[in-house]
Amino acid sequence: MYMDLSGPPVYRSTTTAPVNIAVVKYWGKRDPKLNLATNPSLSVTLSQDDLRTLTTASCSAKFPKEDSLTLNGEPSDISGARTQACLRELRALRAKLEEADSSLPKLSELPLRIVTENNFPTAAGLASSAAGFAALVRAIADLYRLPNNPTELSVIARQGSGSACRSLFGGYVAWRDGTQEDGLDSKAVEVAPASHWPEMRALILVASAAKKGVSSTSGMQQTVATSGLFKQRVAEVVPKHMATIEEAIAKKDFASFAEVTMRDSNSFHATCADTYPPIFYMNDTSRAAVRAVEQINEKAGKTIAAYTFDAGPNAVIYFLEESAAAIVGTFYKVLSATEGWKDEAKSLSSEIELEETIAQILKGGVSRVIQTGVGEGPVKSNEHLVKPTGDPIIRKN
Ligand code: DP6
Repeated sequence: MYMDLSGPPVYRSTTTAPVNIAVVKYWGKRDPKLNLATNPSLSVTLSQDDLRTLTTASCSAKFPKEDSLTLNGEPSDISGARTQACLRELRALRAKLEEADSSLPKLSELPLRIVTENNFPTAAGLASSAAGFAALVRAIADLYRLPNNPTELSVIARQGSGSACRSLFGGYVAWRDGTQEDGLDSKAVEVAPASHWPEMRALILVASAAKKGVSSTSGMQQTVATSGLFKQRVAEVVPKHMATIEEAIAKKDFASFAEVTMRDSNSFHATCADTYPPIFYMNDTSRAAVRAVEQINEKAGKTIAAYTFDAGPNAVIYFLEESAAAIVGTFYKVLSATEGWKDEAKSLSSEIELEETIAQILKGGVSRVIQTGVGEGPVKSNEHLVKPTGDPIIRKN
């Protein structure tokens, strides 16, 4: 095939980035402009085999003057303050390198063409902003050959979307909220790599394909402004949960990890209910998932599963590989007609029966399942979404 490679060079770099689901939630900003959180949070990075964003960052004097971003085959607006903050900071770091070494090409002065796609249907209603901003920042940092480590890059990704700072690492990741006004100490750190506790699994019950009602950005602002309970969450509940869950991860104590995870999700949704007017993210299907997990734990005689919910009705259920039959097998019996099961689910049998009313609500409300587990952080890729000629590869999903 003939490719026109004449003219100015095209520089490009491609990365993948994972989704993360918090077990101690970020909810509340102390500085909305810099995206500084009112409290620390902790998440599990999910495997990119199942959920990932793929992003190519490219730059060339060939491109139109304006930076551009294509998301899942559609042009996407990048004029927003958050995206602009990320681009500005990355360019400034590159400009510094160019100043120090005049032999470097002046990439900081070239327009960017960013092409990105998710390997999961946007309609799944899964928060993709975390993986999206993490991939954007990592891809441009690689394009610019920035020497900055993931924690330093997390300070930039955080300004795109708070939870994105945690997607720069795999495994078990904390966002230390920091105290500085400039936010330079509000960053993500790896608490433990995925290899420390690789048996962690997640089953996601997708309970809504619709876009969420109240965005997390606006929801958390309303909570901070109106909820009394929120103050207690920040002052007492979260510090206790952070300490307990970090210890649970260090010791690989699933029962303790699970209790904190469930309590923290409950605490977060309680502050939503305490917001005035109240915000409801969980629906009847979400509550049925809570009951199902309780029934499984009760019948197992110990805590082998933990639910958690973000700013939407989808349930994320964490469990260990050794309990796969009890968890996956039980839900598969009820939801075998639902899309998304891996083949292995069919061979896992469980003696646990969910109560009929709960089973019926789940059958009617879960539109898709995703079976996944703990995974790695961003990975460089050769699957470029921009051709050597600079032309974008556009695929819709
Ligand atoms: C409930 O990171 O989406 O998922 O910083 O405004 O972009 P912005 O918010 P975002 O909020 C995520 C909230 C959460 C909890 C969590 O991921 O910690």
